[in-house]
Amino acid sequence: MDNQVNVSAKRSQIGVGGFNVSARAKQLVMEVLDSNRLTAGPKMAQFEKEIAAIHGCKYGLMSNSGTSALHIALAALKEKYNWQDGDEVLVPAVTFVATSNVVIYNNLKPVFVDVDPRYYCLDPTKIEEKITPRTRAVMPVHLAGQPCDMEPILKIAERDNLRIVEDSAETMFACDKGRPVGSFGDVGCFSTYAAHMITTGVGGLCTTNDPKLIVILKSLMNHGRDSIYITIDDDKAAKGDELFQIADSRFSFVRLGHSFRCTEMEAALGIAQLEEHKQACARRLEIVAQYNKGMADLQNFLQLPCPRPESEHSYMFYALTILDERVKRDDLIRFLEDNSIETRYLLPLINQPIYRDIFGNLDDEFPVAAWLNQNAFYIGCHPDISDEETEYVIEKFHEFFRSYR
Ligand SMILES: Cc1ncc(COP(=O)(O)O)c(C=O)c1O
Repeated sequence: MDNQVNVSAKRSQIGVGGFNVSARAKQLVMEVLDSNRLTAGPKMAQFEKEIAAIHGCKYGLMSNSGTSALHIALAALKEKYNWQDGDEVLVPAVTFVATSNVVIYNNLKPVFVDVDPRYYCLDPTKIEEKITPRTRAVMPVHLAGQPCDMEPILKIAERDNLRIVEDSAETMFACDKGRPVGSFGDVGCFSTYAAHMITTGVGGLCTTNDPKLIVILKSLMNHGRDSIYITIDDDKAAKGDELFQIADSRFSFVRLGHSFRCTEMEAALGIAQLEEHKQACARRLEIVAQYNKGMADLQNFLQLPCPRPESEHSYMFYALTILDERVKRDDLIRFLEDNSIETRYLLPLINQPIYRDIFGNLDDEFPVAAWLNQNAFYIGCHPDISDEETEYVIEKFHEFFRSYR
């Protein structure tokens, strides 16, 4: 095997995410700075409205991270439905740690469910065996841009009266059977952190169609403030008694909340990217098509990604799983990284040191997750990758696998 690195071939890294601040984004951020209005204002209202509309929802709420969005989604449901500490929430055994961490932080218990080996999302056929009298909710995670198979999940949730929080941090703009992610559950949660479908530095959003939940969500991310006074605009049109009532409530906190707010500048970056999201999504699909075509002859070695039938895929990243037992993931990752192709493991959760500490070794109970934790990883397919770079990546994969043929 000759997977030695040619140091002279070092080139700039092909990252899992990429971002260029467009002229339009700079213009919108400058508008914010010129307006002297940094806290939640017109730009955030616009961004929230547009994200909600694209994802089939009435209400959107921007916070400082996808994790914050998930955290308040669960807290709001816990309050609305009067869940008790220790009640259970179903979480896929493969996801970013935040999905499960927020369950624990809300004094609830994550109960893991294995994932589907082809599309990597929560396996609906494995949900029922995990339901107990204390199960309150399920958190389908639309992983890597692939919406979960929502029809069977909705059926189970309806039958067993479970609430749904969609973790759509990795998936925007995609539909399952014609319906957009973020619109299936009680609350949909998105992230706009670096390397996501839209990048605002930090940021997250909740979407919902429930007028009661949006009030609780807003309050929770604003220190638990009385909903009568959440932003500094809330008193603008008020006079007389109404104005006094608002003044009287400015420091009224009705629940234990958080400081999860972000600024108009993040919202401005988000608006600029929404304006061009169709082109960006099309470019991702183009890159994925190039990878799939170029690596079609490697399918004995690697499981290439593809959308689940009747579903779209927005490809936040390009996920791969090693199928040939002779191939060690460490060797491939080392080779790719040495050749400036950035990688990440595919959302390992149950094998994390802290999860092993809390839950013990769960590998036998979740064989698909355990298999992916050994063999799966991803590379970037973001719009800033050039055709020349996709060709280079394809060539490097061939170079690595040549000696296994
Ligand atoms: C599936 C999933 N959930 C939640 C998050 C957390 O989002 P954030 O980093 O914005 O807090 C991420 C972030 O990568 C994610 O991939």
